Amino acid sequence: MDLINKLHQLGFLDNVIVEAIISTYNLNGEPNAAPMGIIMNKEGQLLIRPFINTRTYQNIVRNGCAVINITSKAELYYQTTFKDEKIPLKWFESAKLVNAPYLKHVDAHLETSVINIQQYGKDRAEILLKVEMIDLKDECIPQVYCRANFIVIESIIHATRIQAFLSQKRFTELERLMEMIQYYNGIVQRIAPNSIYSTIMLNLIEKVNGWKSNIKGRV
Ligand SMILES: Cc1cc2nc3c(=O)[nH]c(=O)nc-3n(C[C@H](O)[C@H](O)[C@H](O)COP(=O)(O)O)c2cc1C
Repeated sequence: MDLINKLHQLGFLDNVIVEAIISTYNLNGEPNAAPMGIIMNKEGQLLIRPFINTRTYQNIVRNGCAVINITSKAELYYQTTFKDEKIPLKWFESAKLVNAPYLKHVDAHLETSVINIQQYGKDRAEILLKVEMIDLKDECIPQVYCRANFIVIESIIHATRIQAFLSQKRFTELERLMEMIQYYNGIVQRIAPNSIYSTIMLNLIEKVNGWKSNIKGRV
């Protein structure tokens, strides 16, 4: 099967933004991981747009490569976004073809190398990646659709945008996102009470309120 068909099977579609977790090595050799949006082009190359202040961007520029980890697990998105606790080293393994780590407990991983890096807007870069290898995990079992899982991922994305809006003092947009997170929290507490999902939602709300009161304290 050719590369583009394989990517389609994994859910990549031309010019549609999908989400995955990118892993790279930090300067000191430690593994790092962070969620990023990814767009596939017609040649089966993958485009990411990291903010230039992220470690992921700096690591990719330095190492010229990255691993794209495919997963829908909300817990992994939460932990790799905020890194409240250090991601355990035992979660990672060295990739075969590129100088980057991969996450072991994901559905598949793609080893990629940089084709091109250019500026994208004021504070982002656009990085084009070539897929060198796709590794599908054999033990991957079908999963039921869990609304709470996807609502949590959506809320994590909102929270990262709230963080950016706070630093830019864009309070109206921020309040709108806060309302959406509160609305999502209501759903999660109803359909998944006392679960990993309800816990993440409460942590997220606490985190966002903490950022807000920090900023207000300074204004
Ligand atoms: C689903 C999802 C998608 C994200 N997409 C991007 C993205 O495309 N570009 C970006 O710079 N940050 C994105 N983020 C936010 C980063 O993952 C977040 O800022 C992270 O802390 C960066 O970590 P790093 O500094 O270790 O690279 C996304 C977060 C989530 C949850």
